[in-house]
Amino acid sequence: MAVSKKIKQFMEQGSWIRRMFEEGIALKQQYGEENVFYLSLGNPIMQPPPEFYDELRRIANDPPPGLHRYMPNAGHVETRAAIADELTCETALPFTADDVLMTVGAGGALNVVMHTLLDPGDEVVIFAPYFVEYFFYADNHGATCKVVPADENFLPDLDALADAIGPKTRIVLTSSPNNPTGVVYGREVIAEMGRVIRKREAELGTEVFLVSDEPYRKILFDGLEYPHIFEHHVRSVVATSHSKDLALPGERIGFIAVHPEYSDKEELIDGLTFCNRTLGFVNAPALMQHIVKNLQSVTVDVGTYEAQRDFMYGALTDIGYQVVKPQGAFYMFPKAPIDDDVKFTNMLRENRVLVVPGTGFGGPGHFRISYCVSDATLEGSLPGFRAAFEGAG
Ligand SMILES: Cc1ncc(COP(=O)(O)O)c(C=O)c1O
Repeated sequence: MAVSKKIKQFMEQGSWIRRMFEEGIALKQQYGEENVFYLSLGNPIMQPPPEFYDELRRIANDPPPGLHRYMPNAGHVETRAAIADELTCETALPFTADDVLMTVGAGGALNVVMHTLLDPGDEVVIFAPYFVEYFFYADNHGATCKVVPADENFLPDLDALADAIGPKTRIVLTSSPNNPTGVVYGREVIAEMGRVIRKREAELGTEVFLVSDEPYRKILFDGLEYPHIFEHHVRSVVATSHSKDLALPGERIGFIAVHPEYSDKEELIDGLTFCNRTLGFVNAPALMQHIVKNLQSVTVDVGTYEAQRDFMYGALTDIGYQVVKPQGAFYMFPKAPIDDDVKFTNMLRENRVLVVPGTGFGGPGHFRISYCVSDATLEGSLPGFRAAFEGAG
C-alpha cells in the first residue's frame, strides 16, 4: 500500500469535494461544459481587484532590492506593520508589527498555530458544521478534534461548548463567516464563547486559546460589522488569509495575529516564527507580501457576492427549500428535502447540479452551495434545483 492506513482513511473522509469535481468532469463530457452547474468549489471566479494589478505592475517595473530573497521567518516588517495598523483601526487594540506573522495562506497559518500550541494528545474544540480540514490539521500535530453541535440557525451550542472543554483542550477554534453555512457568529455569541472558556479554564486550571479562522472576515453583507474575537478573550489568535477577500487563493498569502495584550505573547510569537520555519514554509511568499502591504483596506466587490446571495436565497426559498440566510462568505447550506443528504446530492447531480453533501462538513441533512461562480451558472442551476426538489416529493 502506497500510503499509510491513516492517510487512506483521511483521504476517504475528506474526499467529498474532490468526488463531486470528478463526477462533474464526467458529466461535462456527456452534456457539454455549459450544461453542467458546478456549485461545489470554494474557488472564486472573481478576479483580484484592480489595485492588486497596479501593485503587481509597480513592483515588476521597479523591484525593490532583495525582493526575492529570504527574509526574517515572520515576514517583512512593513507588511506586518500595515496589517497591524488595519487591525488597530478595526479593534482599537494597540497591534504592532511584532504581533503579526505572515503565512502561507490560512491553511498554513492554522498549521503553524496548532504546531506551536499543541502537545500530542491535546484537543481542539471545533463547531459544527465545520471546514473538514480541521481534523487533518489537528492530526498533523498529534491532536484530535471534539465537535460542538449547532442550533437550527447554525450558531454554536455554548452549553455543549462548556462540556466539550476538558483538561486536554488547548484550542477552541471558531470560524465566521462560516464555511459551509455563511452564518456570522454575532458579538454576543463570541462574548459568551469567551465567558465559557474562562469559566472552564478557572475550573480546570488550564489555559485555552480562542483561535479564529477568518478568511471570509471582509465578505460581510447587510451592513454588518465584523465581530472580532480579541475583545472577548486575551489568549486569542487570528489565522487568516487574502485567499477570499482579495481573490488570491493560489498565491498562498495569509497571516497570524496575536492579541497585543496577551502576557506571554513574545514567547508565543517566537514559537510561531520557529514553527513557520520548521514546518518547511520558511516564510510567506515574498512578492505577495510586498503587494498586500498596500492593499489592507481593499477587498473584492462584496456587493457582487451579496447580490448572488440574494438571488440564490430568493430562488431556492421560492422553490420550497429551507435555507438559513447567509450573512457572509459565498456559501449557503440549505436543508435537503429528504433526510439523506448524500442521496439528495446524487439527485441534484442527475440534474447536472453539483453541490457537496452536508455530511462532509458534519452537517448531515443539508448540502453546501458555493455561489462564487458566474450569474449564468447560478441561473442555469435553477431548473435542476427545482426538478430535484420535486423529485424528492
Ligand atoms: C474556513 C476555511 N478556513 C481555511 C481555508 C484555507 O484558506 P487558504 O486558501 O487561505 O489556505 C478555507 C478555504 O477554503 C476555508 O474555507
